[in-house]
Amino acid sequence: MKRKKVLFVCLGNICRSPSAEAVMKKLVELEDLENLIEVDSAGTINYHEGEPADQRMLKHAEKRGYKLDHLAREFNLKTDFNYSDYIVTMDNNNYYDIVSLDSRNQYSNKIFKLSQFAVDINFEEVPDPYYGGSEGFEIVLDILEDACKGLLEKIKDDIKYNHQE
Ligand code: 4NP
Repeated sequence: MKRKKVLFVCLGNICRSPSAEAVMKKLVELEDLENLIEVDSAGTINYHEGEPADQRMLKHAEKRGYKLDHLAREFNLKTDFNYSDYIVTMDNNNYYDIVSLDSRNQYSNKIFKLSQFAVDINFEEVPDPYYGGSEGFEIVLDILEDACKGLLEKIKDDIKYNHQE
């Protein structure tokens, strides 16, 4: 069966989306679904290209048992739309940036906001923690842990449905 590909997108790809990638990979691993679900992340800007995740984000994530080993990369217009099945953005700016890159409206069914998958924590956007204090990084992780569970359920439903077709 064709693997489902998830691509999390934020601005710099050094705080929110690499953490979402790590949280989601852990959930996928716990359910032994690595052969069915692939997870990556990217940023809408290339400012941090090639850099590891932000040290503060790394530290907070590590405390919860997540190892962030992603190196920042920019969303690739030529390959990412085509390759990915779920392009999951963190805030409204990321969402509209990606929507506007899809200039011919070909991929709108693949573009999501993470907030669509919230389970217990109701939120509109994953707040950018970059210029704030340590509490912001904890809020990011709380939101990611909640909404990635919802996203995984959605993907599992899609896999089941595809399988039946
Ligand atoms: P991220 O956070 O989008 O969650 O990776 C940011 C990283 C870098 C910057 C802003 C937000 N920046 O302005 O460089």
